[in-house]
Amino acid sequence: METPLTHNISPGREPPDLAQYEKAGGYGALRKALGMAPAEIQAAVKESNLRGRGGAGFPTAQKWSFVPMGDDAPRPKYLVCNADEMEPGTFKDRMLLEGDPHQLIEGIIISAYAIQADVAYVFLRWAYKLAARRVERAIVEAYRHGYLGKNILGSAYSLEMHLHVSAGRYICGEETALLNALEGKRANPRAKPPYPQVSGLWGKPTIVNSVETLCNVPHIVKQGAEWFRSLSRSDDGGTKLYGASGRVKNPGLWELPMGTPLREILEEHAGGMRDGYQFRGVLPGGASTDFVTAEHLDVAMDFDSVQKAGSRLGTGTMIILDDKTCPVGMLLNLEHFFAQESCGWCTPCWSGLSWIEQILQDMEEGRGRASDLELLESHTRLLGPGHTFCALAPGAAEPLQSGLKYFRDDFERHIHEKRCPWSPT
Ligand code: NAI
Repeated sequence: METPLTHNISPGREPPDLAQYEKAGGYGALRKALGMAPAEIQAAVKESNLRGRGGAGFPTAQKWSFVPMGDDAPRPKYLVCNADEMEPGTFKDRMLLEGDPHQLIEGIIISAYAIQADVAYVFLRWAYKLAARRVERAIVEAYRHGYLGKNILGSAYSLEMHLHVSAGRYICGEETALLNALEGKRANPRAKPPYPQVSGLWGKPTIVNSVETLCNVPHIVKQGAEWFRSLSRSDDGGTKLYGASGRVKNPGLWELPMGTPLREILEEHAGGMRDGYQFRGVLPGGASTDFVTAEHLDVAMDFDSVQKAGSRLGTGTMIILDDKTCPVGMLLNLEHFFAQESCGWCTPCWSGLSWIEQILQDMEEGRGRASDLELLESHTRLLGPGHTFCALAPGAAEPLQSGLKYFRDDFERHIHEKRCPWSPT
């Protein structure tokens, strides 16, 4: 099968430099794009059914369509590449950043042209040091060869691009917190609306797209929307980077048709469970998604199908729970992360998450009470959508609410036995 996003990438090797990237056809899509009207590029992306790969799956062209166009549009306009990948279990953008930075830069330039942005930022996770070096080098090469700066490739279009290394907090990946961080403010999320498309960075129209989303754009422009849709096994166009971690034989990352069934990814690509371990459940899209159990193993891994199965595709990088891992301990670990990463801006999030962490900690250490289950359940409702400024707390509630549903016996055993049944003592 075709792997447009990863065909240039050999893990562990240096990424293609500019000459190698060009030799493989790189920047051909940009040349083509500059000969098209911005509206034509937006139409091609709309036709392709590309949905955002950061986790929420918002249709990319629809997002772009909210940006004011025309001579009277507020300037400057911005395009920000969200490369602050920090969802637990998620390491897909890292592969694209380290493996083929010119593909990302070409995607950013074309996308910026489509909305007529003047300035682009790559907002990169602090811990991705190798990616920072490689992206920086690729930006310098792109400037030197006329792909960035004034009058790109002799056209009327100009774009400046900057690499910004994040402060290293999970909340910096939330698009409005990210914009505050770029402005030099504390990374608290902003209320939406207004959405960044109309009032983003310094109050100007701004598109925030993820790395994987932007890497798809050159391929859509070059090979067409119909080709892109034909790569997929579902209504969402293209391929998807899927990952698996946990006690499977072959944990890793694969570019596969969008809509590849969960079972196929787990059994054929991840090699099935390691000997001596049984599958109990999976968080299909990073930590902030609901568990899916064996009854849903045949679900197609696309946005709508996973939602129908009671969870979300999220980042598509799954975390697998086995029968020798304590689900309460796993959730404690995840909720500890979310509590630690709460920005403290809204009370349900900072107070609720640290309370959840404390209750789970007590349960793991034999101090659980029968009333704790109801308390945890009520917290998952209090932290649900609409009660907080951003998706951090609702995301943190997802694995917990589904964990309480699917692994209730395990919670009860902790309370009745006054210990963790998986603990050796
Ligand atoms: P969201 O659904 O609020 O927004 C998604 C995108 O669509 C945003 O760019 C937003 O501006 C746009 N949008 C949504 N509704 C809109 C409307 N009515 N009008 C105009 N634009 C609209 O989700 P959010 O908070 O941006 O992202 C949450 C997702 O991020 C979660 O699903 C989670 O899976 C994922 N995530 C990914 C991480 C990573 O490392 N890749 C880290 C943390 C979360």
